[in-house]
Amino acid sequence: MPDMTPDEEAAILDTPRLRLRPFTAEDAEAHARLYSDPEVTRYLGGGSATVQTPGERSARTLEAFVRHWEEHGFGVWAVLERGSGRVIGQCGLKYLPVASAAAPDVEVLYALERRWWGRGLATEAAGAALDHGFVTLRLPRIVAVTRPQHHASRRVMGKVGMTCEGDVEVYGIRAVLYALSREAYLARRDARRPRAATSTASGATGPPSARGSG
Ligand SMILES: CC(C)(COP(=O)(O)OP(=O)(O)OC[C@H]1O[C@@H](n2cnc3c(N)ncnc32)[C@H](O)[C@@H]1OP(=O)(O)O)[C@@H](O)C(=O)NCCC(=O)NCCS
Repeated sequence: MPDMTPDEEAAILDTPRLRLRPFTAEDAEAHARLYSDPEVTRYLGGGSATVQTPGERSARTLEAFVRHWEEHGFGVWAVLERGSGRVIGQCGLKYLPVASAAAPDVEVLYALERRWWGRGLATEAAGAALDHGFVTLRLPRIVAVTRPQHHASRRVMGKVGMTCEGDVEVYGIRAVLYALSREAYLARRDARRPRAATSTASGATGPPSARGSG
């Protein structure tokens, strides 16, 4: 796997608890560890019917991620927990297989090691990926797909503002499709932004926080 290109270095996203950066060759072990948990891979593309060991599946996935970055200039990041610098998952943007959709949609995807579930981290990572997709890449629309019964993933999609558009056939399975347009994303983001601070704000000891989510 090649080292990071300057473009990839520019595509590092920081959130309050996470850093998203492109995978490097040094992440192979951490990624294989992620994919060694069948609860993590259960709903991921490729499905349980594929005849691959978790290690092979991880290696092929990483190769595909690198190819996608090279071909499109964006892709799936390694998700690092900022406190420890440890790789705890993957999250990012990638084209859905063309045959599976009328137009080649870009999907947001995410997976975290099990011990990190239930803390809002997938929502935090997916939010940063969407922001990058809509604001930096100016994508018109981003989708997400999952099996209908994967309620945790569907909840993440809902929390980042995506809405369910119905059933699709993708990766050879029946899935539900969630989507969000750039227009709707920007409108939602602006509506949630605090109004500009007034100069009379009391108790302020410094400038208003300028920290963004990447
Ligand atoms: C799906 C996944 C990414 C969620 O990660 P996470 O960090 O736990 O997600 P968050 O904490 O941001 O949000 C999860 C939400 O789902 C809810 N949830 C979890 N399990 C649920 C269930 N069985 N039914 C309904 N809601 C559920 C949580 O309560 C939370 O919602 P809340 O904030 O309103 O309470 C994680 O479970 C994972 O990595 N799974 C394996 C990989 C995977 O399946 N990825 C998605 C492929 S489509």
